[in-house]
Amino acid sequence: MPFPEHRLRRLRRNESLRALVRETSLDPGDLIYPLFICPGEGVRNPISSMPGVFNLSVDEAVREAEEAAILGIGGLLLFGLPEAKDEQGTGAWADDGIVQRALRALKQSASSKKLVLIADVCLCEYTSHGHCGIIHKGPYGHDVANDPTLDLLARTAVSQARAGADIVAPSDMMDGRVAAIRHGLDHAGFSDTPILSYASKFASAFYGPFREAADSAPQFGDRRTYQMDGANAREAMREIELDLAEGADMILMKPAMPYLDIVRAARDRVDVPIGAYQVSGEYSMLHAAFQRGWLDQNRAMLESLLGIRRAGADFIVTYFAKDAAKLL
Ligand code: PBG
Repeated sequence: MPFPEHRLRRLRRNESLRALVRETSLDPGDLIYPLFICPGEGVRNPISSMPGVFNLSVDEAVREAEEAAILGIGGLLLFGLPEAKDEQGTGAWADDGIVQRALRALKQSASSKKLVLIADVCLCEYTSHGHCGIIHKGPYGHDVANDPTLDLLARTAVSQARAGADIVAPSDMMDGRVAAIRHGLDHAGFSDTPILSYASKFASAFYGPFREAADSAPQFGDRRTYQMDGANAREAMREIELDLAEGADMILMKPAMPYLDIVRAARDRVDVPIGAYQVSGEYSMLHAAFQRGWLDQNRAMLESLLGIRRAGADFIVTYFAKDAAKLL
C-alpha cells in the first residue's frame, strides 16, 4: 500500500526542498532573442501585434544587444527588412544588406563577446512575392523552385558568415539546403561556421504576427508546398535525419507550444543540440491574455518557457528573452 508511507507532498513543503528536486531549469543563457533590423537611424517602430517588439535600425539594435548581453541572454537571431525587394531577393546576400550591416556593427560592439550572433537564412523578407525562394511555373503551377533556390541560400549564408555571423540558421525548408549551405561555407573558408537548421518547421498560423514584423507575407498562395503539414510527426523525424546527414550541427523545432510532442520525439531520437522557437503567434496570444488581465504575465511566461525546456529543448528562441532574463 503506497499511502501513507509515500507522500509526494513531503518534497513540496518549502521552496528550498522544491528547488533541490527540481528537474528542469531555465537560464537566461538558454534564451535567444530575435531582432528585426530595418533601415535608418534611431528607428524603433513598434509591431502592433507584438507588444514590446520593434523594428530596429542598426544603431538601436546595437543598444538592444548591449542590454541583452548585460541580462546574460545567450544570443540574438537576426531578421532583416531591406530597403527594396525584388523577384530573387538579392537583398538577402548583398554585402551591404541590412543583416550584414547589423552583423558588422554588432561584431564591433562590446556585446559581441557575450552574445552568439545567429543569422536567419531565408529569402521571404527580401522577395517581392514574399516566398522563401525563387518562383517558377512548374508542372503544378507557380511555386518555389527548389534547386535554383539552393544557390541563393548558400550565397546568403556565406555573406552572413563573412559579415560576422557566428551561426547561420536556414528557415526556408527547401530540400537539400543544408548540404548546399555547408558546401558554400566550406568553399568560402567558413568550415567552422555551424549550421542551425530549422529542421522541422510546420506551416503554421502562429507565424502571422511575424509576417507583420518582417513584412514577409506571401503575395499569392501559401507556404504549404515547402513547410510541413501540422499533422505529421514521423515526417518531422525524417526532416531531422536528412538535415543531420547533410551536415546540420544543431536543429530547431518550430513552432514550440503546439508541437511539444515533436520536440520530445526529437530529443529521444538524436543527440545534437535542439532548440525550439516560441514563435510570434505564441507570444501575441499570451500578450493578448496579459492585456486583458486574464493571465498572470510573469508566471505564464516562465511556465510557457519551462514547458518547452521540459519537452527537451536545450535552448529557446523567444521574444520574451529579455523579460524572462530579468526575472531569472
Ligand atoms: C522565415 C521565417 C519565418 C519565421 C521565422 N523565419 C516566417 C515564415 O516562415 O513565414 C517565423 C517566426 C515567428 O513567427 O516568430 N521563413
